[in-house]
Amino acid sequence: MKKIAILISGRGSNMQAILAARLPVTIAAVISNETKAGGLAIAKRHGVATRVVDHNAYADRAAFDAALAKEIDALKPDLVVLAGFMRILTDDLVGHYAGRLINIHPSLLPAFTGLHTHRRALEAGVKVHGCTVHFVTPQLDHGPIVIQAAVPVLTGDSEDALAARVLEQEHRIYPQAIRWFCDDRLEITPRGTVKLKPERAMSGSLLSPALDP
Ligand code: GRF
Repeated sequence: MKKIAILISGRGSNMQAILAARLPVTIAAVISNETKAGGLAIAKRHGVATRVVDHNAYADRAAFDAALAKEIDALKPDLVVLAGFMRILTDDLVGHYAGRLINIHPSLLPAFTGLHTHRRALEAGVKVHGCTVHFVTPQLDHGPIVIQAAVPVLTGDSEDALAARVLEQEHRIYPQAIRWFCDDRLEITPRGTVKLKPERAMSGSLLSPALDP
């Protein structure tokens, strides 16, 4: 069974959706950089181990990332899942987890990288908005796209209403992306896109007497 580590900074609703999906994976731990992250209590309620690596305790980004990597590596996860983890990671850390570090971003990338995506979508007048799960690469919010979900932008939408509509989709697509990863179905192509490989046939059908020479 594949092992995952989930990194959070706040309320942890995506983390909660991942736990609630009851994926056939081991959740090694939930790690937060904020001692007060609401998601920590949710993880504990689910019986998941929690760790805090408080970024305030480190002199700089590199020192924090080194401490974070030490915590993560001790868990030996197959996949590291950023779920509302609000720290920019150093290139070293991103490189260390290349191909096994994913993030969810509240926009249809490559549109609206960075912060305040819902406000910016409303300001731009787009009629469709959404969310993206992507592999993390050094360039912020630019890695290979695994899955996206779109929602309509409705007349009179507030930032909160739009955010809530997008969040509902985040909770649906993040568990799906993790399931695909853990089933070894994601392949990053040389062009930097993600190919979803077909589901592996059950061994029973491969060995069915009719096909067995
Ligand atoms: C989500 O909108 C996610 O896309 C973004 O940060 C937010 C985290 O929310 N990266 P939560 O902590 O998962 O509730």
